[in-house]
Amino acid sequence: MENKPAIGEGALNKVKSKSKARWEILRNAIVDKRLVGSGDITFIQSVRRFDTFELFTRKQCTCVLKPDKRSANKKKPQCSWFSYICEDIPFSKEVWIQHLFSDVNLKDILSFNNTGNVCIWPAEEVLAYYCILNIDQFHFKSVIELGGGSSSLAGICIALNAKSPKQILLTDGNKRCVESLEKTIEMNFKNKKNINISASSLLWDDVGTYQQHKNAFDFVICADCLFFDKYRQSLAETIHYVLKSSGKALIFAPRRGHTLAQFVDISCKIFSSVTESDHYCPAIINKHETEQLNNDSYDPEIHFPVLVELIK
Ligand SMILES: C[S@@+](CC[C@H](N)C(=O)[O-])C[C@H]1O[C@@H](n2cnc3c(N)ncnc32)[C@H](O)[C@@H]1O
Repeated sequence: MENKPAIGEGALNKVKSKSKARWEILRNAIVDKRLVGSGDITFIQSVRRFDTFELFTRKQCTCVLKPDKRSANKKKPQCSWFSYICEDIPFSKEVWIQHLFSDVNLKDILSFNNTGNVCIWPAEEVLAYYCILNIDQFHFKSVIELGGGSSSLAGICIALNAKSPKQILLTDGNKRCVESLEKTIEMNFKNKKNINISASSLLWDDVGTYQQHKNAFDFVICADCLFFDKYRQSLAETIHYVLKSSGKALIFAPRRGHTLAQFVDISCKIFSSVTESDHYCPAIINKHETEQLNNDSYDPEIHFPVLVELIK
Protein backbone atom coordinates (compact mmCIF):
# COMPACT_ATOMS: atom_id res chain seq x y z
CA MET A 1 0.00 0.00 0.00
CA GLU A 2 1.26 3.50 -0.84
CA ASN A 3 2.43 5.47 2.19
CA LYS A 4 0.82 8.89 2.11
CA PRO A 5 2.54 11.62 4.19
CA ALA A 6 0.48 12.43 7.30
CA ILE A 7 -0.98 15.92 7.28
CA GLY A 8 -0.46 17.77 10.59
CA GLU A 9 -3.38 19.40 12.44
CA GLY A 10 -1.98 22.92 11.86
CA ALA A 11 -1.69 22.34 8.11
CA LEU A 12 -5.17 20.77 8.03
CA ASN A 13 -6.68 23.82 9.78
CA LYS A 14 -4.89 26.09 7.30
CA VAL A 15 -6.41 24.20 4.34
CA LYS A 16 -9.85 24.27 6.01
CA SER A 17 -9.76 28.01 6.72
CA LYS A 18 -8.63 28.76 3.14
CA SER A 19 -11.42 26.71 1.61
CA LYS A 20 -13.96 28.14 4.07
CA ALA A 21 -12.98 31.69 3.09
CA ARG A 22 -13.24 30.82 -0.61
CA TRP A 23 -16.58 29.14 -0.18
CA GLU A 24 -17.99 32.13 1.72
CA ILE A 25 -16.96 34.48 -1.06
CA LEU A 26 -18.47 32.22 -3.70
CA ARG A 27 -21.65 31.75 -1.67
CA ASN A 28 -22.00 35.53 -1.42
CA ALA A 29 -21.63 35.82 -5.17
CA ILE A 30 -24.33 33.22 -5.71
CA VAL A 31 -26.63 34.81 -3.11
CA ASP A 32 -26.02 38.04 -5.00
CA LYS A 33 -27.68 36.22 -7.98
CA ARG A 34 -25.11 37.41 -10.48
CA LEU A 35 -24.00 35.32 -13.42
CA VAL A 36 -20.24 35.07 -13.31
CA GLY A 37 -17.77 33.37 -15.66
CA SER A 38 -14.96 31.11 -14.45
CA GLY A 39 -12.44 33.96 -14.83
CA ASP A 40 -14.63 36.16 -12.64
CA ILE A 41 -14.75 33.45 -9.97
CA THR A 42 -10.96 33.27 -9.67
CA PHE A 43 -11.04 37.04 -9.37
CA ILE A 44 -13.71 37.06 -6.64
CA GLN A 45 -11.61 34.60 -4.65
CA SER A 46 -8.68 36.99 -4.54
CA VAL A 47 -10.60 40.07 -3.54
CA ARG A 48 -9.24 41.64 -0.38
CA ARG A 49 -7.61 38.48 0.92
CA PHE A 50 -4.21 39.83 0.02
CA ASP A 51 -3.82 43.36 -1.21
CA THR A 52 -0.17 44.39 -1.36
CA PHE A 53 3.44 43.22 -1.58
CA GLU A 54 4.34 46.47 0.22
CA LEU A 55 6.69 47.59 -2.52
CA PHE A 56 5.61 51.19 -1.95
CA THR A 57 5.34 53.03 1.37
CA ARG A 58 1.93 54.74 1.49
CA LYS A 59 1.27 57.85 3.56
CA GLN A 60 -2.05 59.63 3.74
CA CYS A 61 -1.98 63.37 3.04
CA THR A 62 -2.43 65.24 6.32
CA CYS A 63 -4.05 68.38 4.93
CA VAL A 64 -6.95 69.70 7.02
CA LEU A 65 -10.36 69.49 5.32
CA LYS A 66 -13.44 71.47 6.31
CA PRO A 67 -16.32 69.25 7.54
CA ASP A 68 -19.33 69.09 5.21
CA LYS A 69 -22.11 70.80 7.21
CA ARG A 70 -24.85 69.01 5.22
CA SER A 71 -23.44 65.55 5.88
CA ALA A 72 -24.79 63.42 8.73
CA ASN A 73 -21.27 62.04 9.20
CA LYS A 74 -19.72 64.08 11.97
CA LYS A 75 -16.28 62.44 11.70
CA LYS A 76 -13.37 64.72 10.79
CA PRO A 77 -13.02 64.39 7.00
CA GLN A 78 -9.72 62.96 5.83
CA CYS A 79 -7.86 63.69 2.64
CA SER A 80 -8.22 60.87 0.09
CA TRP A 81 -4.76 61.45 -1.47
CA PHE A 82 -1.86 59.17 -0.55
CA SER A 83 1.82 59.55 -1.29
CA TYR A 84 3.49 56.40 -2.67
CA ILE A 85 7.25 56.06 -2.37
CA CYS A 86 9.30 53.09 -3.49
CA GLU A 87 12.04 53.18 -0.86
CA ASP A 88 13.93 50.20 -2.33
CA ILE A 89 14.79 52.21 -5.44
CA PRO A 90 16.52 55.41 -4.27
CA PHE A 91 16.08 57.44 -7.48
CA SER A 92 12.33 56.79 -7.75
CA LYS A 93 10.06 59.79 -7.35
CA GLU A 94 7.07 60.23 -5.04
CA VAL A 95 3.65 59.58 -6.63
CA TRP A 96 0.26 60.92 -5.46
CA ILE A 97 -2.68 58.53 -5.76
CA GLN A 98 -6.28 59.06 -4.67
CA HIS A 99 -8.01 56.23 -2.81
CA LEU A 100 -11.60 56.20 -4.00
CA PHE A 101 -13.45 53.85 -1.70
CA SER A 102 -12.92 52.97 1.91
CA ASP A 103 -15.44 50.14 1.68
CA VAL A 104 -16.62 47.97 -1.21
CA ASN A 105 -19.02 45.11 -1.66
CA LEU A 106 -19.22 42.34 -4.23
CA LYS A 107 -21.76 44.25 -6.28
CA ASP A 108 -19.32 47.14 -6.67
CA ILE A 109 -16.58 44.76 -7.67
CA LEU A 110 -18.57 42.81 -10.24
CA SER A 111 -20.70 45.52 -11.80
CA PHE A 112 -19.24 46.31 -15.21
CA ASN A 113 -15.77 46.93 -14.63
CA ASN A 114 -15.67 48.60 -11.35
CA THR A 115 -12.69 46.38 -10.60
CA GLY A 116 -10.34 49.28 -11.35
CA ASN A 117 -12.17 51.51 -8.86
CA VAL A 118 -11.76 49.11 -5.97
CA CYS A 119 -8.04 49.46 -5.20
CA ILE A 120 -4.60 49.11 -6.76
CA TRP A 121 -4.23 45.39 -7.38
CA PRO A 122 -0.92 43.70 -6.46
CA ALA A 123 -0.15 43.10 -10.17
CA GLU A 124 -0.25 46.88 -10.80
CA GLU A 125 2.05 47.45 -7.84
CA VAL A 126 4.48 44.83 -9.20
CA LEU A 127 4.25 46.26 -12.74
CA ALA A 128 5.07 49.74 -11.38
CA TYR A 129 8.03 48.43 -9.37
CA TYR A 130 9.35 46.43 -12.34
CA CYS A 131 9.07 49.44 -14.67
CA ILE A 132 10.96 51.73 -12.26
CA LEU A 133 13.63 49.07 -11.78
CA ASN A 134 14.02 48.79 -15.57
CA ILE A 135 13.42 52.46 -16.33
CA ASP A 136 16.21 52.78 -18.94
CA GLN A 137 14.14 51.03 -21.59
CA PHE A 138 11.47 53.75 -21.34
CA HIS A 139 13.71 56.81 -21.88
CA PHE A 140 12.39 58.86 -24.87
CA LYS A 141 9.74 56.19 -25.62
CA SER A 142 5.96 56.16 -26.05
CA VAL A 143 3.96 54.04 -23.59
CA ILE A 144 0.26 53.19 -23.31
CA GLU A 145 -1.29 51.56 -20.26
CA LEU A 146 -4.42 49.48 -20.92
CA GLY A 147 -6.94 48.81 -18.12
CA GLY A 148 -4.99 51.08 -15.78
CA GLY A 149 -7.89 51.32 -13.31
CA SER A 150 -8.26 54.47 -11.25
CA SER A 151 -4.53 54.87 -10.57
CA SER A 152 -2.43 53.61 -13.53
CA LEU A 153 0.33 53.59 -10.94
CA ALA A 154 2.82 52.03 -13.38
CA GLY A 155 2.16 54.52 -16.18
CA ILE A 156 2.49 57.43 -13.74
CA CYS A 157 5.77 56.00 -12.40
CA ILE A 158 7.20 55.74 -15.92
CA ALA A 159 6.14 59.33 -16.67
CA LEU A 160 7.82 60.58 -13.47
CA ASN A 161 11.02 58.55 -13.70
CA ALA A 162 11.88 58.08 -17.41
CA LYS A 163 13.96 60.67 -19.30
CA SER A 164 11.78 62.78 -21.63
CA PRO A 165 9.21 60.10 -22.47
CA LYS A 166 7.79 60.81 -25.92
CA GLN A 167 4.18 60.11 -24.90
CA ILE A 168 2.39 58.45 -21.96
CA LEU A 169 -1.27 57.52 -22.44
CA LEU A 170 -3.24 56.10 -19.50
CA THR A 171 -6.45 54.30 -20.47
CA ASP A 172 -9.37 52.34 -19.08
CA GLY A 173 -12.86 51.37 -20.27
CA ASN A 174 -14.57 52.64 -17.12
CA LYS A 175 -15.55 56.33 -17.05
CA ARG A 176 -14.97 56.78 -13.32
CA CYS A 177 -11.48 55.36 -13.72
CA VAL A 178 -10.70 57.79 -16.54
CA GLU A 179 -11.96 60.75 -14.46
CA SER A 180 -9.74 59.61 -11.63
CA LEU A 181 -6.75 59.25 -14.00
CA GLU A 182 -7.27 62.84 -15.16
CA LYS A 183 -7.21 64.05 -11.54
CA THR A 184 -4.10 61.95 -10.85
CA ILE A 185 -2.31 63.51 -13.82
CA GLU A 186 -3.31 66.99 -12.61
CA MET A 187 -2.04 66.20 -9.10
CA ASN A 188 1.33 64.73 -10.18
CA PHE A 189 2.19 66.93 -13.14
CA LYS A 190 0.58 70.32 -12.49
CA ASN A 191 3.95 72.11 -12.42
CA LYS A 192 5.54 70.06 -15.19
CA LYS A 193 4.29 71.49 -18.43
CA ASN A 194 6.79 69.79 -20.76
CA ILE A 195 5.49 66.24 -20.36
CA ASN A 196 3.14 64.62 -22.84
CA ILE A 197 0.81 62.64 -20.56
CA SER A 198 -2.96 62.20 -20.88
CA ALA A 199 -5.82 59.85 -20.00
CA SER A 200 -8.59 58.55 -22.22
CA SER A 201 -11.38 56.05 -22.38
CA LEU A 202 -10.33 53.00 -24.42
CA LEU A 203 -12.46 49.87 -24.74
CA TRP A 204 -10.69 46.76 -25.99
CA ASP A 205 -13.83 45.55 -27.78
CA ASP A 206 -14.48 48.85 -29.56
CA VAL A 207 -11.82 49.69 -32.15
CA GLY A 208 -13.46 53.11 -32.59
CA THR A 209 -12.01 54.09 -29.21
CA TYR A 210 -8.41 53.41 -30.29
CA GLN A 211 -8.19 53.51 -34.10
CA GLN A 212 -6.12 56.71 -33.98
CA HIS A 213 -3.36 54.79 -32.12
CA LYS A 214 -2.52 52.23 -34.85
CA ASN A 215 1.21 51.25 -34.64
CA ALA A 216 1.76 54.22 -32.30
CA PHE A 217 3.48 52.90 -29.15
CA ASP A 218 6.89 51.44 -28.27
CA PHE A 219 5.40 49.83 -25.14
CA VAL A 220 2.06 48.56 -23.88
CA ILE A 221 1.82 47.94 -20.15
CA CYS A 222 -1.09 46.19 -18.46
CA ALA A 223 -1.84 44.65 -15.04
CA ASP A 224 -4.44 42.15 -13.90
CA CYS A 225 -6.68 42.30 -16.94
CA LEU A 226 -6.57 38.68 -18.17
CA PHE A 227 -9.40 37.19 -16.11
CA PHE A 228 -12.27 38.74 -18.11
CA ASP A 229 -13.41 35.72 -20.13
CA LYS A 230 -15.29 37.96 -22.55
CA TYR A 231 -12.42 40.29 -23.41
CA ARG A 232 -9.24 38.17 -23.58
CA GLN A 233 -9.22 37.98 -27.40
CA SER A 234 -10.02 41.67 -27.87
CA LEU A 235 -7.36 42.69 -25.34
CA ALA A 236 -4.69 40.74 -27.27
CA GLU A 237 -5.87 42.29 -30.56
CA THR A 238 -5.84 45.81 -29.07
CA ILE A 239 -2.26 45.34 -27.86
CA HIS A 240 -1.18 44.20 -31.32
CA TYR A 241 -2.98 47.09 -33.00
CA VAL A 242 -1.48 49.89 -30.89
CA LEU A 243 2.12 48.58 -30.81
CA LYS A 244 4.74 49.75 -33.30
CA SER A 245 6.43 47.01 -35.30
CA SER A 246 8.85 45.30 -32.85
CA GLY A 247 7.10 47.10 -29.99
CA LYS A 248 6.84 45.24 -26.69
CA ALA A 249 4.01 44.56 -24.21
CA LEU A 250 4.72 43.93 -20.51
CA ILE A 251 1.77 42.25 -18.86
CA PHE A 252 1.53 41.18 -15.24
CA ALA A 253 -1.29 38.98 -13.99
CA PRO A 254 -1.80 36.06 -11.61
CA ARG A 255 -2.46 32.69 -13.24
CA ARG A 256 -6.07 32.60 -11.94
CA GLY A 257 -7.04 29.12 -13.13
CA HIS A 258 -6.68 28.84 -16.91
CA THR A 259 -7.10 32.55 -17.57
CA LEU A 260 -3.44 33.51 -18.07
CA ALA A 261 -2.73 30.33 -20.07
CA GLN A 262 -5.67 31.07 -22.36
CA PHE A 263 -4.37 34.60 -22.97
CA VAL A 264 -0.93 33.18 -23.79
CA ASP A 265 -2.52 30.74 -26.28
CA ILE A 266 -4.37 33.55 -28.02
CA SER A 267 -1.22 35.71 -28.08
CA CYS A 268 0.90 32.94 -29.63
CA LYS A 269 -1.33 33.16 -32.72
CA ILE A 270 -0.93 36.93 -33.01
CA PHE A 271 2.57 37.96 -31.81
CA SER A 272 6.03 37.05 -33.13
CA SER A 273 7.30 36.29 -29.62
CA VAL A 274 5.50 35.36 -26.39
CA THR A 275 7.38 34.60 -23.16
CA GLU A 276 6.18 33.87 -19.67
CA SER A 277 8.26 34.30 -16.50
CA ASP A 278 7.90 33.78 -12.74
CA HIS A 279 11.50 34.81 -11.95
CA TYR A 280 11.61 38.33 -13.31
CA CYS A 281 12.89 40.08 -10.19
CA PRO A 282 14.68 38.75 -7.07
CA ALA A 283 13.02 41.32 -4.76
CA ILE A 284 9.53 40.15 -5.77
CA ILE A 285 10.51 36.49 -5.40
CA ASN A 286 11.67 37.28 -1.84
CA LYS A 287 8.35 38.95 -1.01
CA HIS A 288 6.45 36.04 -2.55
CA GLU A 289 8.41 33.47 -0.49
CA THR A 290 7.86 35.47 2.71
CA GLU A 291 4.09 35.66 2.06
CA GLN A 292 3.98 31.92 1.34
CA LEU A 293 5.59 31.19 4.70
CA ASN A 294 3.74 33.72 6.86
CA ASN A 295 0.41 34.60 5.35
CA ASP A 296 -2.45 32.07 5.32
CA SER A 297 -4.49 34.19 2.97
CA TYR A 298 -1.79 34.36 0.30
CA ASP A 299 -2.41 32.00 -2.61
CA PRO A 300 0.16 32.36 -5.45
CA GLU A 301 -2.36 31.03 -7.99
CA ILE A 302 -4.52 34.12 -7.53
CA HIS A 303 -2.08 36.62 -6.03
CA PHE A 304 1.40 36.13 -7.53
CA PRO A 305 1.74 38.11 -10.79
CA VAL A 306 3.42 36.30 -13.68
CA LEU A 307 5.15 38.41 -16.36
CA VAL A 308 4.01 37.84 -19.95
CA GLU A 309 6.10 39.63 -22.59
CA LEU A 310 4.77 40.01 -26.12
CA ILE A 311 6.72 41.27 -29.13
CA LYS A 312 4.81 42.32 -32.21
C1 LIG B 1 -8.69 44.34 -12.03
S1 LIG B 1 -8.77 45.91 -12.76
C2 LIG B 1 -7.08 46.30 -12.87
C3 LIG B 1 -6.83 47.75 -12.72
C4 LIG B 1 -5.36 48.11 -12.54
N1 LIG B 1 -4.60 47.67 -13.68
C5 LIG B 1 -4.84 47.49 -11.26
O1 LIG B 1 -4.27 46.37 -11.35
O2 LIG B 1 -4.99 48.08 -10.19
C6 LIG B 1 -9.20 45.61 -14.47
C7 LIG B 1 -9.41 46.90 -15.26
O3 LIG B 1 -9.76 46.55 -16.61
C8 LIG B 1 -10.76 47.47 -17.07
N2 LIG B 1 -11.52 46.81 -18.16
C9 LIG B 1 -12.25 45.68 -18.08
N3 LIG B 1 -12.81 45.39 -19.27
C10 LIG B 1 -12.41 46.35 -20.12
C11 LIG B 1 -12.63 46.58 -21.52
N4 LIG B 1 -13.39 45.78 -22.25
N5 LIG B 1 -12.01 47.65 -22.08
C12 LIG B 1 -11.24 48.47 -21.34
N6 LIG B 1 -10.99 48.31 -20.02
C13 LIG B 1 -11.58 47.26 -19.42
C14 LIG B 1 -11.59 47.73 -15.84
O4 LIG B 1 -12.35 48.93 -15.93
C15 LIG B 1 -10.56 47.75 -14.73
O5 LIG B 1 -10.10 49.05 -14.45
